[in-house]
Amino acid sequence: MSTIVSPKVRGFICTTAHPTGCKQHIINQINYVKAKEKQTDGPKRVLVIGASTGFGLASRISAAFGSDAATIGVSFERPATGKRTASAGWYNTVAFENAAAEAGLYAKSINGDGFSNDIKQQTIELIQKDWGGEVDLVIYSIAAPRRTDPETGTTYQSTLKPIGDVYTNKSVDVMARKVTEVSIDPANEDDIENTIRVMGGDDWQRWINALLEANCLANAVKTVAYTYIGPAITHRIYREGTIGRAKAHLEATAKELSNTLSSVNGEALISVNKALVTQASAAIPVVPLYISILFKKMKEKGSHEDCIEQMQRLLCERLYSKEGRDNEGRIRMDDWEMEKDIQDAVSAVWDNVSTDNLGSETDIDSYMHCFYRLFGFGLDGVDYDAPVEIDVAIPSIKK
Ligand code: NAI
Repeated sequence: MSTIVSPKVRGFICTTAHPTGCKQHIINQINYVKAKEKQTDGPKRVLVIGASTGFGLASRISAAFGSDAATIGVSFERPATGKRTASAGWYNTVAFENAAAEAGLYAKSINGDGFSNDIKQQTIELIQKDWGGEVDLVIYSIAAPRRTDPETGTTYQSTLKPIGDVYTNKSVDVMARKVTEVSIDPANEDDIENTIRVMGGDDWQRWINALLEANCLANAVKTVAYTYIGPAITHRIYREGTIGRAKAHLEATAKELSNTLSSVNGEALISVNKALVTQASAAIPVVPLYISILFKKMKEKGSHEDCIEQMQRLLCERLYSKEGRDNEGRIRMDDWEMEKDIQDAVSAVWDNVSTDNLGSETDIDSYMHCFYRLFGFGLDGVDYDAPVEIDVAIPSIKK
């Protein structure tokens, strides 16, 4: 059906998405990558798990349009039903596949719970049928609130909690444009364990083992998953909180996977990415205020990047080079975020930021723009007063 679509924000999520706006956002990202020099020795057959939004989507666009890679994208998105729009990731996938087809690039997508055995099996069958079983890069970029373990049937819920004491810090109510104070009760042992089971390395390991057993990994295959470290301001809620424990597990899994992949001369890597506005990060207390200040300082310095700039740089300059790795072997795409002058400037603002100076001391406007853009709103060149067809199919997915 055709209808006029406007944003409906509930908490940190927008429940509507605009198909034409999402398409424009994809086109803008593709144009960014196309303006860069082509990568001739880049990956050619890329599986992206968590491919429809945020870093995974930007990785898929960078691989396809930056090195002419064929891509298979796995994600868990909602189609339109009746008057309800599809999720943004659904429209992104439609737009990506159409743009790839126009450019003569192979692109197929699988929509469903990537944590399940069934979706892994469907993906493996597609890789065997279409690619003769030869993936040379597996990008793991799932961010999810819960996961059902396919072996036990147990569903784990992840949490964003501090560990130890109650944590109190500044945060921001972005819709009300108010600096607030949040106090979050500490996690118990179950919260920690459950968050590790959802956002740690279990599922990444299951994917790699399944692909390896099915002979789907090419010689010298690489796989990469994304983590975050961040500054002291966010440590208690992020790096030292439940999500940080999960990320430590993910990072340890990379080392195990590198051992596993030695049989095909492969390597498992971790990329430490920059804090950016995505559906996943919008849910984390404190972080949106940090991001609003960070954006202002990085823009002033001329070093600001968004997902597409980060992932284009990762694929083109870092993934296939030993440059820019820390002593744990992690690729530091957060290098510019963590520069001392940037962090000193952010800290100085942090201590003094209030509702009164939010507009002048932070880039809250840019935060809001990025947030709406995630759902296809606020993009130049899109007529938001015109009715638009909301029930659109992903070309490679049969109804
Ligand atoms: P996002 O919310 O934009 O993307 C999540 C992706 O996971 C989507 O494609 C979604 O469809 C997919 N997904 C969710 N549940 C799924 C399931 N059950 N089966 C299959 N696919 C599923 O998140 P974002 O921020 O791009 O996160 C990706 C990774 O990057 C995460 O590991 C996150 O921790 C990490 N990261 C994020 C940072 C940020 O500031 N946003 C910073 C550094 C790392």
